[in-house]
Amino acid sequence: MSMENRITELQQEAEAAIAAASSTAALEDVRVRFLGRKAELPNLLRGVSELPVEQRGAVGKAANQARRALEAQLEERAGELAVAELTARLEQDRVDITLPADPLPAVGRLHLITQTWRQIEDIFIALGYRVAEGPEVESVYYNFDALNHEPTHPARAWTDTFYLADDVLLRTHTSPMQVRSMELQEPPIFIIVPGRVYRRDSDVTHTPQFHQVEGLAVDENITLADLKGTLQTFARAMFGDDREIRLRPHFFPFTEPSVEVDVSCFNCSAGLTATGERCGICKGTGWLEILGSGMVDPNVLGHVAGNGYDPERVQGFAFGMGIERIAMLKYGVTDLRLLYDNDVRFLEQFA
Ligand code: DAH
Repeated sequence: MSMENRITELQQEAEAAIAAASSTAALEDVRVRFLGRKAELPNLLRGVSELPVEQRGAVGKAANQARRALEAQLEERAGELAVAELTARLEQDRVDITLPADPLPAVGRLHLITQTWRQIEDIFIALGYRVAEGPEVESVYYNFDALNHEPTHPARAWTDTFYLADDVLLRTHTSPMQVRSMELQEPPIFIIVPGRVYRRDSDVTHTPQFHQVEGLAVDENITLADLKGTLQTFARAMFGDDREIRLRPHFFPFTEPSVEVDVSCFNCSAGLTATGERCGICKGTGWLEILGSGMVDPNVLGHVAGNGYDPERVQGFAFGMGIERIAMLKYGVTDLRLLYDNDVRFLEQFA
């Protein structure tokens, strides 16, 4: 066979292989097979100089043309295959963003303290109260003095309270908002004040920071009966329609008279469970203490008498409850620390 014929044969073989290559990888194999360093056509080209002079021109020309033609076809086919492969990959990777995620992502929920906080707010908002919030960094005046605390009251001691300066502290209760709110608003006033409070206390039943909700109602003709009715409504909304409350005499510096309020235990009847055992939640007493309360002391109103709170004309009641305490009673949580450990196995239970 003449060299020119062999070149034509090689070119036809290569063209068929290029047309048949179905991927860029297969095409690369074809290139190596026909135009690679060890392939026949390039070898042939390299050998042209050793041919008899009269053959060199024709063979060299044919081989060069064949090589250039194949290079052009390889490049064109490579372009086609690359486009086809990209299109196929895009098709395969297409994500339908309208499909639901699988599995559905876990949804978080509000912390039990937040849930209880909001539930208390909802109950009082439904009774016509407004929600106010006050500063956590408070003055001794609003935290103690204006609330009628004796100079020797134990809560004033630095061992019990976080002082930031001689007369500035982290509020020990939400009660300072009583006088602050009355300074801002003339009577009648019906507010609750949820928020963080701070005490130097840390054990199984105390954390240095916890939450309270203060309540304050001042108007003409407010009596202890209003206090009892309001708190009974609250207790039933929170703990169930069958609940009763009872008031026990107590002492707070800023209310007179003062009471502690108990709700009848929801876990037993008069201290005995359905199976006749002593109830573990109320310790067999049939009652659970839920808050402190009383009629606003005239001395407290005296600090804001100029703003319409003349103790001869208006009276009111106040109450204060711990949010953690309400949550623990309602859900039977026995260890306060569970509320602050943030173990999701615990938190997840309160949907
Ligand atoms: N401030 C009191 C405390 O932290 C709770 C309290 C008792 C608030 C009686 C009141 C109240 O408004 O009338 O222990």
